[in-house]
Amino acid sequence: GAASKGDYRHYMLKEIFEQPEVIAAALEGRLSDEGVLVESFGPEAVAHFQTLKQIHIVACGTSYHAGLVARYWLERYAGVPVQVEVASEYRYRQVVVPEGTLFVTLSQSGETADTLAALRFAKARGYVGSLAICNVPGSSLVRESDLCLMTRAGPEIGVASTKAFTTQLVALMLLTLAIARAQGGKVDREIITALRGLPKLCQEVLALDSAIENLAQSFAEKHHALFLGRGAHFPIALEGALKLKEISYIHAEAYPAGELKHGPLALVDSEMPVIAVAPNDDLLEKLKSNLQEVRARGGLLYVFADESVGIAEEPEVQVLTLPYVHEALAPLLYTLPLQLLSYHVAVLKGTDVDQPRNLAKSVTVE
Ligand code: G6P
Repeated sequence: GAASKGDYRHYMLKEIFEQPEVIAAALEGRLSDEGVLVESFGPEAVAHFQTLKQIHIVACGTSYHAGLVARYWLERYAGVPVQVEVASEYRYRQVVVPEGTLFVTLSQSGETADTLAALRFAKARGYVGSLAICNVPGSSLVRESDLCLMTRAGPEIGVASTKAFTTQLVALMLLTLAIARAQGGKVDREIITALRGLPKLCQEVLALDSAIENLAQSFAEKHHALFLGRGAHFPIALEGALKLKEISYIHAEAYPAGELKHGPLALVDSEMPVIAVAPNDDLLEKLKSNLQEVRARGGLLYVFADESVGIAEEPEVQVLTLPYVHEALAPLLYTLPLQLLSYHVAVLKGTDVDQPRNLAKSVTVE
């Protein structure tokens, strides 16, 4: 059943491996050949999506990282301006809400104290409406929002969020396409097709588990790690760093690769592994020159990329080759190897993977 580990050593590993299945569930009945079914977000969604002019997204932790990815998507594929903020900051700001703004919360549990308080705060601020993207039906966040979309990840037991995050990303891509459609944009059939193929691609990535376990060997002795990405992969780097620190207690930071020379490069030496999320997108050439800067300082590089990226394996450059994926969905696919990397590092270090020290699955007090 959902609450048993089955043959897996930890809930986290089980939940990582459930992703093909739950991503398929998150898509089920929500796509047609004409695009995303806007009604999936509730009967009033069409009216809201047709008229909205911008979006404010508020969340905590891993859910916040999903919101950061959504900003790139909503701006690029729906042409909607987006602000994303952690709930604990948002709720204490003198927020200025432009006319026609939709308020969106993201939460696995639907009970995170700051996110819930942010929603209650937002209600008096003149938003056109509120949408919750959430994994728990009937949770406080869902009950108190005008619109909702359930992520259908099923129960998540491991404190470090995995399948809840990737299903949030699926939901946010559906939101992007639904808004684009409601606002009269043309249907992006390539993305719809790519979404349908995503569960299978995730399977292919999970099959790289033992290669990733090998990479993890050289991490277990390290005290620090630096994650780099650009564009929509910067939040994926943030999420990779968060997973590593949560469960292996290795200090990890993430930077947008273009900021490297504004500080973190000073930390790079042979003791500092640098993990780069490098799918083949229009920022690749820029990312490659950032990686050269790391190499020139003796840093050990771990690159997650597809074959077309053409970064050669060297003694100090390890490359994990992922399958090709539509550029729009790369942030989703590239999350999986980072989850597996932190999982294996934590197992090697012997930490309590499912129940890391000092952390809670759901933070229901401020
Ligand atoms: C805690 C959990 C994280 C989660 C965050 C937000 O910190 O340990 O995994 O991302 O809360 O939780 P939510 O349920 O609102 O997504």
